[in-house]
Amino acid sequence: MEIDGAHVLVTGASRGIGAGLARAFATAGGRVTVVARTATAVEELAAETGGTALVADLADAAGRAGLIARVEEAAGPVDVLVNNAGIDVTGTLDDMDPADLERLVAINVLAPMELTRQVLPGMIDRGRGHVVNMSSLAGTAVLPGMVAYAASKSALTHFTAGLRADLRGLPVGTTVVEVGLVPTDMRASVVAHPPTAAAFRRFYRLGLLTDTPLDRLCAHTVRAVADDRRHVRLPRRAWAFAALAEAPRRITELTITGVRAR
Ligand SMILES: NC(=O)c1ccc[n+]([C@@H]2O[C@H](COP(=O)([O-])OP(=O)(O)OC[C@H]3O[C@@H](n4cnc5c(N)ncnc54)[C@H](OP(=O)(O)O)[C@@H]3O)[C@@H](O)[C@H]2O)c1
Repeated sequence: MEIDGAHVLVTGASRGIGAGLARAFATAGGRVTVVARTATAVEELAAETGGTALVADLADAAGRAGLIARVEEAAGPVDVLVNNAGIDVTGTLDDMDPADLERLVAINVLAPMELTRQVLPGMIDRGRGHVVNMSSLAGTAVLPGMVAYAASKSALTHFTAGLRADLRGLPVGTTVVEVGLVPTDMRASVVAHPPTAAAFRRFYRLGLLTDTPLDRLCAHTVRAVADDRRHVRLPRRAWAFAALAEAPRRITELTITGVRAR
């Protein structure tokens, strides 16, 4: 996908990774639409990048309903959908608030599925499109305290594989981003739970994991869309975790070569 001139919709763009991605796509020549709940933050980012801001709460069915139509009415057809908005609910499952669990699934799983469902018909009609799902290494490797978050990211990664199966032969690409810790508000929230922090410390001490700088993650993600690559896996040293978990999906894909998707 040529990024120059492409309309890129980034959810969860009021701060952290989403804001970084919006800036990186804009720098690469994209026209960005940024979505989150915090109006001032998305409006400032839209002004900075020359893009469009839209306020929506993706935890609510009403916030998700018709969102792509609203974006396209404001800023034209969406070429790239970046499902980045996400929350963590870190702790032991029996201590979790059921309302937090519902919000987690709504934002991390349901919203990417629903926005993708809304955006696909237009992308297929126009013969051009790309969907990026911001998953996590937690989608393949689970640490204590990350039971709910990891399950949601595992669902998102597998959803992306299913999407690829559905889109076989069509000019709509997908990229799943599987990244370890990135310095943002969410990172601070995840390691505030002592057992999770202790588990991460072990991985860091063994040299199996390291933080991924925001700029690096954003540059890799923009390049993956430009080159139509299916995966962003960072840090590189943890590549095998995601690649091994991908093996059954890839074997399935090869087995059904030539089978029509629709
Ligand atoms: N940071 C990491 O270490 C890390 C690692 C792997 C994957 N990820 C993933 O990367 C993505 C971004 O994470 P981050 O670290 O940038 O987190 P963050 O700094 O906490 O930012 C989260 C973003 O999601 C938005 N958001 C939260 N609830 C929302 C809702 N109900 N409706 C709409 N937007 C909502 C927030 O905006 P408002 O609050 O303004 O709505 C904010 O822009 C997430 O999917 C996360 O799971 C993060």
